[in-house]
Amino acid sequence: MSRRRFLKCLVGVLSAPLAAFLGWPMLSSLIGPLYRLDKPRFVKVGSLDALPLGMPVSMNFEMPTTDAYIHSNATHSVWVIKHSAAGATVFSPVCPHLGCHYDWYPDARNFICPCHGSVFSVDGKVVAGPSPRPLDTLPSKIENGDLYVMWELFEVGVRGKRAIG
Ligand code: FES
Repeated sequence: MSRRRFLKCLVGVLSAPLAAFLGWPMLSSLIGPLYRLDKPRFVKVGSLDALPLGMPVSMNFEMPTTDAYIHSNATHSVWVIKHSAAGATVFSPVCPHLGCHYDWYPDARNFICPCHGSVFSVDGKVVAGPSPRPLDTLPSKIENGDLYVMWELFEVGVRGKRAIG
């Protein structure tokens, strides 16, 4: 093999990994969003075992998020009402009126939003106040006693439930 041919082969072999290294960020920015859209992800929230039946419990969980090239964990909370060992309702903590976080008041047996006074029953129905729709449920599943939730945000201030991210 001539020296010239050897150098051509060497440059070809070395440039392939370099091109992959430099091109990966651009490729992942194009493919990444499509991949995430195709694969909605359930995130483990925790065990249902210790939760009381029929009583709303606020549970926090961490979810990996990616913003451009920054990877971090975001902490979210959800309201969980356990119906049985294999069944639970999960509510988004965001009030459907204008997006405040509401709380559970055990004495009143209602969820009450502090911002404009919307009141919701334990099953999420509007009891009073300006909320245009019931509390938003989140997709969930139970595996081996653990609760998994798919985190979503919904448009606030409108009658219909529309996911916005
Ligand atoms: S944001 Fe909850 S009642 Fe207005």
